[in-house]
Amino acid sequence: GKMSKLLTDKFYSAMKKLEPRYPSKVALLLPALHAAQDELGWLSGEVMDEVAGFIGIHPAQVREVASFYTMYNLKPVGKHHLKICTNVACLLRGAEKIVEVCENKLGIKCGETTKDMKFTLAEEECLGACGTAPVMMLNNDYHESLSPVKIEKLLDELR
Ligand code: FES
Repeated sequence: GKMSKLLTDKFYSAMKKLEPRYPSKVALLLPALHAAQDELGWLSGEVMDEVAGFIGIHPAQVREVASFYTMYNLKPVGKHHLKICTNVACLLRGAEKIVEVCENKLGIKCGETTKDMKFTLAEEECLGACGTAPVMMLNNDYHESLSPVKIEKLLDELR
């Protein structure tokens, strides 16, 4: 029989709408992964299998693409996903201190998630906002010109 679906009708109808705008179904892979992650928070093996089935390619190809891009979460992430840029411009302007404040305050290291699933902390490559370093993304939003005081305040608000 057919395996049970993890993705909702909303996902499938959004894909139906997008499909005519793409040259091929394979070209839908990135938007499909994006939509799947929006729906479920992260991309489990089962979800990637379902996307592979929908697109009509091998699951290994989906995994390869998903693991290539850092924007896809291959592990469950917390409600608040902090991605702190530690590339050179941000490092020079104190990114390490920002990471340290987060690690101390949340009691986790980069790459980890708090037990209550509220926070995931990650280091990120250049986010393309070097002019306002140090920078991080909180879920899909940019937070720029960070300082230890600013980040502490933000974490308090989110908690
Ligand atoms: Fe951090 Fe470019 S180095 S945004």
